[in-house]
Amino acid sequence: MNLWDGRFSKGQDEALKDFNSSIRFDSRMAAEDIQGSIAHAAMLGRCGIIAISESETIINGLKDIATDLESGALVIDPEAEDIHTFIEGELTKRVGDAGKRLHTARSRNDQVALDIRLYLRKLSANLRSQLVTMAETLLKLADENAGVVMPGYTHLQRAQPITFGHHLAAYAQMIMRDIGRVDDAVHRMNECPLGSGALAATTYPLDREMTASALGFSAPTVNSLDGVSDRDFCVELAAALSLIMVHLSRLSEEIILWCSWEFKFIELDDAFSTGSSIMPQKKNPDIAELVRGKSGRVFGDLMSLLTMLKGLPLAYNKDMQEDKEAIFDAFDTVSACLSILPPMLNTMKVLPGNMRKAAAGGFINATDCADFLVSKGMPFRQAYKITGQIVAFCIEKGKSLEEVTLEEFRSFTPEFDEGIYSAINLENCVNGRTVLGGPAESAVKAQVAAALKKLHQLKEAGL
Ligand code: ARG
Repeated sequence: MNLWDGRFSKGQDEALKDFNSSIRFDSRMAAEDIQGSIAHAAMLGRCGIIAISESETIINGLKDIATDLESGALVIDPEAEDIHTFIEGELTKRVGDAGKRLHTARSRNDQVALDIRLYLRKLSANLRSQLVTMAETLLKLADENAGVVMPGYTHLQRAQPITFGHHLAAYAQMIMRDIGRVDDAVHRMNECPLGSGALAATTYPLDREMTASALGFSAPTVNSLDGVSDRDFCVELAAALSLIMVHLSRLSEEIILWCSWEFKFIELDDAFSTGSSIMPQKKNPDIAELVRGKSGRVFGDLMSLLTMLKGLPLAYNKDMQEDKEAIFDAFDTVSACLSILPPMLNTMKVLPGNMRKAAAGGFINATDCADFLVSKGMPFRQAYKITGQIVAFCIEKGKSLEEVTLEEFRSFTPEFDEGIYSAINLENCVNGRTVLGGPAESAVKAQVAAALKKLHQLKEAGL
C-alpha cells in the first residue's frame, strides 16, 4: 500500500522499495516528525481548515504514538518507506478518518525539511555542550600547567620556549570558535519551512507564523521553493563539524607525538591506552589515532553533501534524501570523539621534567641571546648574525648556549656581559613574555581567566 496508489495500477518492485526507503536512518527523527505534525494539526484547527475536534483527535493520537515509541510499545516498521509515512499510517490506524486530514496543506517535502531542521537543532545543542566541556577541560589543564616550560616548535623544530599551559590554551581558543560556528549555522537554519508545501506553498489560509513560533523558529522561510530545497544548513554544519575534527585531529597528532619515547612529554592513563598482541612493551595511543583517522569520515560527509546539492534543479529532488546519512554520521562521529577526549586528557600524566629537558636542547633561547645584544644597542639583524655564529660554535663544541663562557661570548662581540646568563635562562625567557597572548605563567593565567569568562558567556547565551 503506497501513499500514491490512486495514480498507479501496479505495486512496487521489491528491489525499488528497499532502494527507495529511508526508514533505516530517518526513524531517528520520529520525535521531531511528531512534534512538527502536532504544530501543523493545531494550526489547521485554529485556522478553521479542519475542525477543532479533529485537530484534537489528531494531536492526542500523535501524543500517544510518541509515548508508545518511547516506551517501546510501538516498534517502527522497517518496511515503511520513511518515518513520515509510518507515523501518518499509524495515526490513521489509531484515530481513523481524522488522521487522513493531517496531511492537508502539507507535503512530505516541507515536512522533511522541517524535521531535519528540528533534529539538527537538537543535535547541535548536544554538540555545543560537548564542546563547552572540551574547552573547560583544556582550560583547566592549561591553568594547572601554566608554569610548565616546554619547547615551542615551528616546522617541528625546537623554536622558542613556551609553557604547556599556553599550548593547551591554544586549543581552547579553537574550540570556542567552533562553538561560535555552530551557533551561526543554527541561527541561519532557524526558519520554519512548514507551509512551503511540495514547492508552491498552498491555497489554504495557513498561519505560518503560528507554526514557526510554536516550534521555536525565529520566522517562517520566505520563499516556498527555497523552503523545501535548501540544505545549506547541512553543509554549514558539516563544515563546522569538519573544522572541529581538524582541531581534534591536530591535538590528537600532538598527543601521539608527546607519548612517543622520542618526546615522552605525557603518559596516557592505562584506561585510555591499548597494548599490542605481540610486543609486550607497547602502550599505544589508539584513541588519539582514531580521532585523527575519523576526521576523514567527516570531511567525506561534507563532500557528499556539497556534491549531492550542486547539480540539483529547484525544488525537491530525491537526491536530497542522501542528506541525512551524511550529516548524521558527521554529528555521530564528532560526538563520539568529544565524549572520549576530555576523560583521556583529564587522566593523562604530564611529565614536566622531560619537557624542561627538551627545552634545554636545540638552542631555543637563541632569539633571547640576540635580544640581549639588541638591549645593548645593537641592530637586530647584526645581533641575529652574531648569535647564529655562536650557535654554530656551540654545535661544533657540543655545548649549549648556557655553557658558553663569558670570554667566549665576548670573543664574538664585546657587548656581552654577565647579564647574558640571566637573559638566556629558560625560565626568564618564558616569564619575560608577559605580553597579552604570551606564554609567561602570568599571561597564561590571565588568558585562561579571560577564556573561562567568555566560555561562561557562551554557555549562558545558549543556542
Ligand atoms: N524520505 C524523503 C527524504 O528524506 C522524504 C521526502 C519525500 N518526498 C518526495 N517527494 N518523495 O527526502
